[in-house]
Amino acid sequence: MRVHLTTERLVISPLTDADAAAFTAYRRVPEVARYQSWGTDYTLADAAALIAAQPVNGLPAAGEWAQWGLRLGTERPAALVGDIAVGADAAQPDTYELGVTLDPQHQGRGYAAEGLTAIIDWLMADHGAHRIVMQGDARNAAVLALMRRLRLRHEGSIVEGDWFKGEWTTLERFAVLRREWHAD
Ligand SMILES: CC(C)(COP(=O)(O)OP(=O)(O)OC[C@H]1O[C@@H](n2cnc3c(N)ncnc32)[C@H](O)[C@@H]1OP(=O)(O)O)[C@@H](O)C(=O)NCCC(=O)NCCS
Repeated sequence: MRVHLTTERLVISPLTDADAAAFTAYRRVPEVARYQSWGTDYTLADAAALIAAQPVNGLPAAGEWAQWGLRLGTERPAALVGDIAVGADAAQPDTYELGVTLDPQHQGRGYAAEGLTAIIDWLMADHGAHRIVMQGDARNAAVLALMRRLRLRHEGSIVEGDWFKGEWTTLERFAVLRREWHAD
């Protein structure tokens, strides 16, 4: 079964070769790369390699990551507005980590929250997820606001615990359990 989710405004499915140019373009934007693992020197070849390494049906096995595109369902061909990375924990069963990136042209419209909500719903209801975690740099106000808007539970701060781009940085960790997600 290949992942294919739809929301009010978005279609969510694994990245394909056709996404490489748009994906590369927004990854190179300084504000997008600032708190992420890549830099503004991200290349089309980097994107092609990432896409080629995707799990076959788009679903990550334990210890793997998959990258799903957020596409505007109303546009033909559907425009890529961003992506969500879904990682399956290597050590704990039914435990996933999510990371999200939007093209700056499409930020401030609720697409990240809409995409994450659909993916959390699907992982919890259809894929047996027990716990989903997200983390963000303590200086990344946009992602912290997003995790709070989704009502994820703040689990703690890893204070200056991450050597990142030449400095010690603090990470804020959030999580939600299936029983919490369905609580209201
Ligand atoms: C983190 C990131 C995805 C958040 O994007 P975002 O656009 O702020 O998040 P959303 O898509 O949920 O949009 C929420 C905003 O849209 C507004 N909005 C407009 N229309 C909306 C709608 N129909 N529904 C919901 N929100 C809407 C909200 O009010 C909110 O704006 P505000 O922050 O000014 O209050 C984005 O900043 C990003 O890609 N950053 C770079 C990559 C990165 O650092 N990612 C984090 C790594 S985990």
